[in-house]
Amino acid sequence: MDFKDKVVLITGASSGIGQRLAIDLAARGATVVGCGRSLERLQETANELKRYSSSSTVHVCDVSSPQQVKETVEKVVSQFGKIDILINNAGFGLYQSFADIPLDAIESMVRTNFLGAVYCAKEVLPSMIARRSGHIINISSVAGKIGTPYMAAYCSTKFALIGLSESLYHELRPHGIHVSVICPGPVRTKMHLLFDRMTLGAPEFLILKTEDVSRVVIRMIEKERFQAIIPSWLAAVCFFKALAPNLFRVVSYHLLRSPLLQKIRRTP
Ligand SMILES: NC(=O)c1ccc[n+]([C@@H]2O[C@H](COP(=O)([O-])OP(=O)(O)OC[C@H]3O[C@@H](n4cnc5c(N)ncnc54)[C@H](OP(=O)(O)O)[C@@H]3O)[C@@H](O)[C@H]2O)c1
Repeated sequence: MDFKDKVVLITGASSGIGQRLAIDLAARGATVVGCGRSLERLQETANELKRYSSSSTVHVCDVSSPQQVKETVEKVVSQFGKIDILINNAGFGLYQSFADIPLDAIESMVRTNFLGAVYCAKEVLPSMIARRSGHIINISSVAGKIGTPYMAAYCSTKFALIGLSESLYHELRPHGIHVSVICPGPVRTKMHLLFDRMTLGAPEFLILKTEDVSRVVIRMIEKERFQAIIPSWLAAVCFFKALAPNLFRVVSYHLLRSPLLQKIRRTP
């Protein structure tokens, strides 16, 4: 697919998956606008983007603020005339028991991980609908497929993103707009620290690299594919859950209560 005339807005482009995607899409000729909360943190992405595409740029935008999202989308549309692809990637997670996690932390996660994607999608849609063209990609997680202890708030936001994506897929397809959702397992990024305790310091080959996620997202855009779960061994686990949800729940309950996991969980 030729990305040369494409304008891509990526949230959470200052590090990890979003940064990799921004650079890889700019390298394929797209005009990329990457956003995040701090210009300082976005600077490294900006420098990399300029190596491939002089038109690509970064914007400060906190996706949990509908006003900032509105202003950012207006700026991008007035500067480039359109947004072809929106990648809702900004997000964070916390690993804490539901009883202990403060309400404001849950609210902040919902506002960033879920409502941030809602605000962005609602702002880009009118111009996509008018042009009868566009693609919205939501970065969910395997945590949006399988509920895991001590991650109730994070899992809730990621489950919600899958529901949003599925509904929008049906609603927007008649308007010529594609919707995709990707559910990666653990990826080596800053946020990976959250998953490190989930995966018991799993061997390196089980942890995805940002390049792996970026490659699959780009393929999903090219092939207009709705959903991807990566890596494939976790796709198989999700398939087993879909096939036999009750059996899966019983098996996973016992696995998650194994003495080794319990010991790790008690470590703050
Ligand atoms: N790492 C994993 O194992 C994994 C697995 C599955 C899914 N994911 C998902 O992948 C996405 C990217 O995560 P990552 O692993 O790349 O983590 P990361 O390296 O911590 O990057 C998170 C990005 O989100 C941005 N961000 C956070 N809050 C924001 C807000 N309110 N407004 C705008 N930007 C915000 C951060 O930038 P600023 O701090 O500068 O705002 C940063 O650029 C997340 O949605 C995450 O849930 C990650």
